[in-house]
Amino acid sequence: MTLTVNGEHHMLDIDSRTTILDALRNHIGLTGTKKGCDHGQCGACTVLINGRRINSCLTLAAMHDTDAITTIEGLGDPDQLSPMQSAFVRHDGFQCGYCTPGQICSATAMLDEAKQGWPSYVSADLEGAPDLSTDEIAERMSGNLCRCSAYPNIVDAIAEVAGGAK
Ligand code: FES
Ligand code: FES
Repeated sequence: MTLTVNGEHHMLDIDSRTTILDALRNHIGLTGTKKGCDHGQCGACTVLINGRRINSCLTLAAMHDTDAITTIEGLGDPDQLSPMQSAFVRHDGFQCGYCTPGQICSATAMLDEAKQGWPSYVSADLEGAPDLSTDEIAERMSGNLCRCSAYPNIVDAIAEVAGGAK
């Protein structure tokens, strides 16, 4: 099968039970995406598939051979960070950094979801683009856990980018 990751095509001869996470890390060599729980509970493995965030540990590679997969390596690099990556650095939004690739992928897609007017559990108004308050950001990012509890700074980083994106 072929996986398209960060715009590059990768021909893979893999077991049909291989997850996207294992394909990325073990077969393609992109280790930015992290394996935390491997059970869909921590969000460390979050990548974007056709622009939407998804837990790659719960997703079979065989289901996505025509899809565009974006990992943290595809959002930016050390010489040219994405706006969300820069904001995480500026706001000290990480400590050990293990959850950070998943946090940044998730936050990047979350802003698009909000711009498209998708409500969350805490949205008071179900119509139109929500105001990304601290509560909204926390709720929308609740699938991404941080063992170091860098949450206040993560929220600050996302709020800064959201302010520019609204
Ligand atoms: S490793 Fe996928 S959600 Fe934890
Ligand atoms: S920065 Fe360590 S797990 Fe989040």
